[in-house]
Amino acid sequence: FHVDEDASASDKGAYEFYMLKEIDEQPAVMHKLQAEYFDEAGNVQIDEKLLAEMTAADRLYIVAAGTSYHAGLVGKELFEKITRIPTEVHVASEFAYNPPLLAPKPFFIFLTQSGETADSREVLKQVNKWGYPSLTITNVPNSTLSREASHTLLLYAGPEIAVASTKAYTAQIAVEAILTKALAEYQELETAASFDVKSELTKVANAMQTAVDQKHQVEKLAADYLATTRNAFYIGRAIDYDVAIEAALKLKEVSYVQTEGFASGELKHGTIALIEEGTPVIAIITNKATAAHTRSNVQEVIARGANVITIVAGELAQPGDQIVLEDVHPLLTPLVSIVPAQLLAYYTSKNRGYDVDKPRNLAKSVTVE
Ligand code: G6P
Repeated sequence: FHVDEDASASDKGAYEFYMLKEIDEQPAVMHKLQAEYFDEAGNVQIDEKLLAEMTAADRLYIVAAGTSYHAGLVGKELFEKITRIPTEVHVASEFAYNPPLLAPKPFFIFLTQSGETADSREVLKQVNKWGYPSLTITNVPNSTLSREASHTLLLYAGPEIAVASTKAYTAQIAVEAILTKALAEYQELETAASFDVKSELTKVANAMQTAVDQKHQVEKLAADYLATTRNAFYIGRAIDYDVAIEAALKLKEVSYVQTEGFASGELKHGTIALIEEGTPVIAIITNKATAAHTRSNVQEVIARGANVITIVAGELAQPGDQIVLEDVHPLLTPLVSIVPAQLLAYYTSKNRGYDVDKPRNLAKSVTVE
C-alpha cells in the first residue's frame, strides 16, 4: 500500500468504501510518519522553538472534538508518562464557553484532522487573544487552525474521505508519540533513550498489518455478534478505556447501534443493569496492570448473559480470546487495538446495508458551532 498524497489520487480503486481503504492504509501512514519526522540517522526532527515553548509550559491543554478528542486522551498518557508535563484534554465546545482555571504557563495543542472545526477554532481565537502559545496537529496544510496557531505538525495521512475518522486517529497518536520523544530528548530525560519511537513505529506498522489481515475473521464476528443488536458496549481500563470510547464512537456513527465505551470498573455502578441475554460487550485488554480486573468484569457480564468479544494484546492472551494482537510498546497499544474495532464498525454498517462512508446526520468537517 501507499498513502495517497493528494485528493486526485484518492479514488477508491477496488474498494467498495473509503473507510476500508483508509483502515488498510494505516500501516503505510506509520511508515510515512517515520520518513517525515526522522532523519537518516534516526534522529527526530522537530522545530526546537516548538520544543522550547512546550517545555517552558507548566501544563499542556489538548483541545479537540470527536475522534480527535479521543486521540487527545491517548496523548495525555504519552505526554504525562514520557515527558512528565501535566496534561489536560478538553472537548472544544465545552472549553469555548466554560474554560477551566488555567495554569500560569499553559501551552495549547489543537488536534484536528480537517483543521477547520468551528468549536476548536473558537478556542484558538481566545487563546490567541490571551497571548498563549499553541500547536495545531492536523492533516491539512494551510488549514484555518494551522494558520492561526503558533506552530503546526502535519499528520501526513493522505486525504481522509470517509466521514468516520480512522487513519487520522492513529496518525494523531503517532505524531503525539513522536513529539513526546522529541520533548524528552530536548529535556534530556531518561525516558528519551528507552522510548525509541522510530523502531516502535515499525513494530506498530507490522502489528497493524497483522490486525488488518485478520479482517475476514472480524467480518465474521460482526455478523455473529452485531448483525441485529440495538446496543453494544466497549469496556477497558487505563489506556484501553481511551480506546473503548473511540471504538464505541466508530460503531455508533456508522452502524447506528447505540454503543457506549465504559471504564470496566464503572460497570457495576450502573451500566451493568443494561446487560441482558445476548448484549454484545467488547473488552479491550492490552494494559498489563489492569488486565486481571477487566477479565473479572468480563466474567461478571458473561454471568448476566452478555456475548463477549475480547481484543487482547498477545502477551495477555488466554485460550478463547477472539482477537489477539501483536505486542507493541504499552503506550502505543491504541494504534493496534483500534484496528479490529474500526473493522467491526465497518462490517456492521456494511452488513446492515448502510452507506458506510456517509452516515446519516454527520459531516466530515463541522464548520459551525
Ligand atoms: C466531525 C467528524 C469526526 C471528527 C470531528 C472533529 O464530527 O465527523 O470524524 O472527529 O468532526 O474533526 P476534526 O477535523 O477537528 O478532527
